[in-house]
Amino acid sequence: MTQARKLAAGNWKMNGNRAALAELEALARAHPDPSVDILICPPATLIQTASAAMADTAIQIGGQDCHAKESGAHTGDISADMLIDAGATSVILGHSERREDHEESSEDVRAKARTAQAAGLVAIICVGESLDQREANNTLDIIGGQLAASLPDGCTAANTVVAYEPIWAIGTGKVPTTAQIDEVHDFIRTRLIRRFGEAEGGALPLLYGGSVKPGNAVEIFATDNVDGALVGGASLKAGDFSPIISALEAST
Ligand code: PGA
Repeated sequence: MTQARKLAAGNWKMNGNRAALAELEALARAHPDPSVDILICPPATLIQTASAAMADTAIQIGGQDCHAKESGAHTGDISADMLIDAGATSVILGHSERREDHEESSEDVRAKARTAQAAGLVAIICVGESLDQREANNTLDIIGGQLAASLPDGCTAANTVVAYEPIWAIGTGKVPTTAQIDEVHDFIRTRLIRRFGEAEGGALPLLYGGSVKPGNAVEIFATDNVDGALVGGASLKAGDFSPIISALEAST
């Protein structure tokens, strides 16, 4: 199977103002020539400043959401084109907090992903089960359904990343066992290959997300089909995110 590229992605969520750019500077200094891709998705207000500050570094900047339409009367929303104009290379779509807070369906996520990819962004598409769904033994059914409905046709290894984020592991400090991560990632990989073919589906980066910390990153990155992480809380401080990046580099 083609080796997927490795990605350490940070999701700052609704955290951080201009003072937080110092963390980006520290991260860039700590990783001048990384062997993996590094992406930080700050709040929308910081994208332009952050991408300008990181222009000569290996750190890429991304958005946390975009609208499915290219432009128009959508107060408060941001288009894929605007993200690119501000310097973003990627956008997180279908995060469980968007699915919950904004009632985004997988169909909404697919429409956004299509627009983002067409604009030239990498779509980081999130899927994940709730604790109830896991306890009812429905995890793979839920993930299979979300994948089928959230990913547009024609996804490639260059324009799509999939992030498996069990909802019960996000911000809770609870992490699935590596056997549980392995089972879901293997399932996702099989589905991606079946739908997009060996070359694209086999090389499309597959991230794990949910309470990734410096202390558990080595073990998580040693798991088959884990090509990196989508990190929330531990991406806010360079001192936390940097060892996670180093763990990913060491796993390659
Ligand atoms: P967490 O968040 O690392 O704080 O658990 C992960 C995410 O929501 O992407």
